[in-house]
Amino acid sequence: MSSSPTSHYSGMSSVTVWFIMFLLGPVQAQLGTTPNIKHIVVGRCYNYITLYPNMRLDCEDIWRQFEESVVRQSSFNETVDYHQMFSAINQTWPSDGFLFWSKTRRLVESYTSIGRDFWTLADTLVGYLFTGLVWCGREDKSGFNFKSCPTWAEIKHHPVYSLWRQASLNFAEMARGNITVLLNGSIRNAFNRESMFGSFELDALDPCRAESVNIKVVTDLDGPFIESCNQGSVVDLIQILRSRGFHWTCTDNDESLMILQCIQNPKQSSCQKCANSFSLRRSLKMN
Ligand code: APR
Repeated sequence: MSSSPTSHYSGMSSVTVWFIMFLLGPVQAQLGTTPNIKHIVVGRCYNYITLYPNMRLDCEDIWRQFEESVVRQSSFNETVDYHQMFSAINQTWPSDGFLFWSKTRRLVESYTSIGRDFWTLADTLVGYLFTGLVWCGREDKSGFNFKSCPTWAEIKHHPVYSLWRQASLNFAEMARGNITVLLNGSIRNAFNRESMFGSFELDALDPCRAESVNIKVVTDLDGPFIESCNQGSVVDLIQILRSRGFHWTCTDNDESLMILQCIQNPKQSSCQKCANSFSLRRSLKMN
């Protein structure tokens, strides 16, 4: 039996595809280290100095410590130890306005950008330097791997995850005054013990430093309305805070956050109702 030229060709082509896939490595692997990572990090560092001129920073040294930690521990079988880089940073901390969140990143970014006096992890130097970047080392310890890095889900000791875990811990340990926690009431497990907030930050908060922990549960304006201050996992969070002796408050549907959501997406049907009730309230106040 002889194969037709066409079937022979398609056989060759699938072998070629498999060979290419073999060379590319595991299908789940994402892109490698962010290109130009050194320039981005050092550039952001100098920018941070213009924002906070009182902070004394050696940006080149911070980069060196970071690079050394990643390259030294690039086999993924141990956590990357960033403590030397953290020691090279003398972060100054505010005395109030710490903001924690889970599954509400987009809202938090606009909430903090409109000049509300909040301080998130992204406002610390480490948060500022590394937000949105990806990195991992080459297995032969010769530098960063710009071709491919595993995802967080694939390995236990991901170098990016290790940095955020350490940064989150430091951030939470320093939190004092009035602390805000912004949770997403449109999903199940708004408070999730597996998340960064639930697994590291919460346990690192100190009830003696915190005046009050103020939870805000925010839903998408048109729903779904799944969790609230007295429903779902938020109740578990309140129970933990209570048992550890924190003063706490919990608010559903914070008005300023609802207005912000309407500004972001004015077409939502509840924004029309919102607009009517806000203008009604304003006119009642004026009369
Ligand atoms: N792979 C890559 N990035 C991830 C992954 C993942 N598997 N999981 C989470 N992240 C990153 C994303 O950038 C996401 O926006 O972590 C961010 C926060 O994840 P969430 O699950 O939304 O929230 P949580 O885990 O609770 O972390 C938020 O930790 O970042 C600190 O101080 C911050 O309080 C905040 C909390």
